[in-house]
Amino acid sequence: MTGTVLITGPTRGLGRAAVLAMAGRPSSVRPDLLLLGRGLSAVAAEARALGARVEEVTADLSRLADVRSAATTVREMLDAGAVRPLRALVANAGVMSADTRRASADGYELTFAVNYLAHSQLIGDLVGSLTAPARVVLLGSNTYHANVWRRLLHVPEARWRDPLELARPATGEAAPGQAASGVAYSNAKLAILYYAHELQRQAGPGIAVSVFEPGWMPGTDLGRDAPAALRSIMRGVARLPGVSTPGKSGPALASLALDDRWAAARDGAFILKDKIIDVQPVAHDRNRERRLWAATTELLEHASTHS
Ligand SMILES: NC(=O)c1ccc[n+]([C@@H]2O[C@H](COP(=O)([O-])OP(=O)(O)OC[C@H]3O[C@@H](n4cnc5c(N)ncnc54)[C@H](OP(=O)(O)O)[C@@H]3O)[C@@H](O)[C@H]2O)c1
Repeated sequence: MTGTVLITGPTRGLGRAAVLAMAGRPSSVRPDLLLLGRGLSAVAAEARALGARVEEVTADLSRLADVRSAATTVREMLDAGAVRPLRALVANAGVMSADTRRASADGYELTFAVNYLAHSQLIGDLVGSLTAPARVVLLGSNTYHANVWRRLLHVPEARWRDPLELARPATGEAAPGQAASGVAYSNAKLAILYYAHELQRQAGPGIAVSVFEPGWMPGTDLGRDAPAALRSIMRGVARLPGVSTPGKSGPALASLALDDRWAAARDGAFILKDKIIDVQPVAHDRNRERRLWAATTELLEHASTHS
C-alpha cells in the first residue's frame, strides 16, 4: 500500500525503528511519512537520508490543544497535496508514568492521557481524512491481563473502572508507587482494545482497525522515569535472547501498516509481533466499549472548552 503513513512517537524505541523500516523500503513501496511528536528533526533527517519524503508535525501529546492543532496541520497538508493520500495512521506514542498523580496539561492522568486520550482525539479528527482502503494501527500490550510470567515479574493487569475515573490523577502526599503505575498502563492498554473495537464499528468498511503488540521490549525508554535500579535491570534483560527489541518489532509494525499480507486485519485484530492472536474475553465488552466511547467524547469536549 503506498500513500502516506502518519506515525506518532517516532523519535525513539519502536516508533523510530518502524519509521526507518518504512523509509528504507524500495521507492516503489515506500510511503511518504508524517511524523507527529516532539523533537522530530533527528529521526526526520535519518528517514530523509534513506530517501523518504518526510513532514514533521510537532505536538506534545500530553496537551490536547496541541493534538487538535496537529490534526488541523495534517488536514491542510493533505488538502494542499504536500504529501500523498493518508492511508495509515499508526498511534504508537506511549508512556508509563511512574507517578499516577501526574496530570496532562488538560488535568488527566498522564498515562491514560498520552496513550489513549491523545490518540482518540487525533484519530477522531483525522478519520475523515483517510483515503480508503486505509488502516488505523493502535498500540496494545498484553499486560492488560495477567499470566504466570507477568505475575512472577509483578506486572499488574488492568483493573477496569469507569473511564472518567481512569482519567482522574491520583491524589495524596506520597506517590502511589510502581504497582499503581503498572495498573494505569494496563488500563490504558485495555482502553485501547475497547476503543479499537468501537472505532471499527463507527469508522465503516473502508478503514481497518488493528492493534499491534510488539512483545516485551525492556530496553526502550517507556518506563524512563522508573527507579534507576529497575531501569538498569531492564537494560540487562533486554540483551537476553528471545526478548523483543525495536529492531525486531519495528519492521513488523511497518508491515502491519503497509503490507497486503495484513489487508484483512480489522475489527481490532490483535497482532502479537507477526501473528493474529485471540484476546482474552475481558477485552470484548460491548457495554464498556460504548461507555468508553461516550466518556471519551465527554473528556475531549471538556478539554476543548477549557483550554
Ligand atoms: N516497551 C515495551 O515492552 C512495549 C510492550 C508493548 C507495547 N508497547 C507500546 O509500544 C509503543 C512504543 O513504546 P516504546 O517501548 O518504543 O517506548 P519509548 O522508547 O519510550 O518511545 C515512546 C515514544 O512516544 C513518544 N511520546 C511519549 N510521550 C509523548 C508526548 N507527551 N508527546 C509526544 N510524544 C510522546 C516518545 O517521544 P519523546 O522522545 O518526545 O519522549 C517516543 O517517541 C507504546 O505505545 C508502548 O505502550 C511497548
